[in-house]
Amino acid sequence: MTGLRLPDGGEIPRLGMGTWRMGERGRDRAAEVAALRLGLALGVTLIDTAEMYGEGGAEEVVGEAIRGRREEVFLVSKVYPHNASRRALPEACARSLRRLGVECLDLYLLHWRGAVPLAETVEAMERLRAAGKIRRWGVSNLDVADLEELGPALADCATDQVLLNLEHRGAEYDLLPFCAARGMPVMAYSPVGQGGALLRHPVLKALAAARGATPAQLAIAWTLSRPGVVSIPKAVRPEHVRQNAAAGAMRLEAEELAALDAAFPPPRRKRPLAML
Ligand SMILES: NC(=O)c1ccc[n+]([C@@H]2O[C@H](COP(=O)([O-])OP(=O)(O)OC[C@H]3O[C@@H](n4cnc5c(N)ncnc54)[C@H](OP(=O)(O)O)[C@@H]3O)[C@@H](O)[C@H]2O)c1
Repeated sequence: MTGLRLPDGGEIPRLGMGTWRMGERGRDRAAEVAALRLGLALGVTLIDTAEMYGEGGAEEVVGEAIRGRREEVFLVSKVYPHNASRRALPEACARSLRRLGVECLDLYLLHWRGAVPLAETVEAMERLRAAGKIRRWGVSNLDVADLEELGPALADCATDQVLLNLEHRGAEYDLLPFCAARGMPVMAYSPVGQGGALLRHPVLKALAAARGATPAQLAIAWTLSRPGVVSIPKAVRPEHVRQNAAAGAMRLEAEELAALDAAFPPPRRKRPLAML
């Protein structure tokens, strides 16, 4: 599966692994590390984490999973908004790098917008980039108006990571076209609806059964069918990891996409970007 071109000319894999809820309980750690290693073995090379997840615990899990194989991984982490200031960002990044056991992040995201002015965060991100601590920076949960506020710095923003799945299609109305016009990939989080009601939807279940796939695979394949979109399902159970890795190769037919549009209608007007 080829990656997507980033604004700086680099490449980002289209399929990744999320890590929210990992690193919260010591007794789950071995299974979480094993899940990430299984995904890597199956060719899923992007790992998405954040200082927030398990308050550093998820980054430690990722660090253990990627030890000795850093070069294979496209590593993404995120900073809390309250740490996204000129003074706090370098320290937060250093803590993340230490927990991950790496010298440099491939991508560092502002997790959501907080009180620190965006221009200050961008300046601090650019310093980290110049110092070789991050290869590039991006944002998360920012709607079009927030992105516009970045001004000329928008050209250096690598991605916007947002809630995008069949149940939450709002970003398709204007955010996806806005980012596509700038050559900026969008990262879709919660692509399988956190394993909830979406996976029990009768239309999704029927379409999945008809092609011998699971509802989660169809949900992931749908996010990947959106142009310029990276999908980052999180899974600990090995059968989930295997399914999700295989979903990267699925191509949905026009009839399947039409049936999904009928069951999960695309947005017809602007709504504020939803977030979890
Ligand atoms: N930027 C942000 O604000 C933000 C917000 C939310 C999420 N994220 C990122 O996006 C990632 C994904 O989102 P998410 O964790 O919220 O939700 P998700 O990936 O949509 O769903 C994860 C849940 O679905 C289950 N699952 C995974 N694959 C499955 C399959 N093939 N069949 C059935 N169930 C399956 C998982 O179970 P098991 O774990 O038991 O296998 C887990 O309970 C996060 O982990 C995080 O890295 C970012």
